Amino acid sequence: MAEFTLPKNSKIKKGRFYKAPPTATRKQIKEFKVYRWDPEGDSNPRLDTYEVDMASCGPMVLDALIKIKNEIDPTLTFRRSCREGICGSCSMNIDGTNTLACLKSCDDVSGAVNIYPLPHMAVIKDLVPDMKHFYAQYESIKPWLQTDSAEPTRERLQSPEDREKLDGMYECILCACCSTSCPSYWWNSDRYLGPAILLQAYRWIADSRDEATGDRLDDLEDPFKLYRCHTIMNCTKTCPKGLNPAKAIAEIKKLMVERRV
Ligand code: SF4
Ligand code: SF4
Ligand code: FES
Repeated sequence: MAEFTLPKNSKIKKGRFYKAPPTATRKQIKEFKVYRWDPEGDSNPRLDTYEVDMASCGPMVLDALIKIKNEIDPTLTFRRSCREGICGSCSMNIDGTNTLACLKSCDDVSGAVNIYPLPHMAVIKDLVPDMKHFYAQYESIKPWLQTDSAEPTRERLQSPEDREKLDGMYECILCACCSTSCPSYWWNSDRYLGPAILLQAYRWIADSRDEATGDRLDDLEDPFKLYRCHTIMNCTKTCPKGLNPAKAIAEIKKLMVERRV
């Protein structure tokens, strides 16, 4: 029988405990258990526990993380910018699901809130994953309008109906929640593009102004880049913007079949 063991230094140890100030009412305290790892030491990752007084904290998990950093432990590291689900930088695994910390209400989690970085990505520090490979994959699909025809004197026009075809795709904020919840991406992310990047690829294929559809499909005609998707649907279930990357992937596969017949 196969035996699976984690490398010694990847085991998560019990971490520090930060008690709420005595002024906090017990009923108002919520516990946050947060993954911590510092590349500058040689210790294993640990799970620190912070008691947060919710009477003086905003409602979202990101509010709690900011409060922890500002008032309890300035060494805690995470990404964030817009605080309203637009920049995609606060993606992390909260309560077992990949989501945006700024859109996740603390009240939606009963008991302690467990917070980890996005799964199956190398960690730079604490809750910050290394997105270099993800962005390189994004660049590989040439996410810009490609045209051969003569430049118009003003902008390239698009009918309202054609513009509507981009709904459900232009809203993608590249948070990577979907790709890092996809088992196929976990095991083959070196070659499989994953749901986020494939949704972006389809966004340009579906754009009536783009004139490189054939080249784009040629680039994706590959046993790994596209066909590692086995329609497991985790991507669509997890997207915090309510998008459907699995459908976009199915549309690309359909176009591949159509151009063969
Ligand atoms: S499809 Fe959704 S989960 Fe995936 S990167 Fe875009 S916004 Fe994030
Ligand atoms: S539908 Fe495809 S891309 Fe989405 S989680 Fe499943 S295998 Fe991954
Ligand atoms: S901080 Fe921008 S999406 Fe959460």
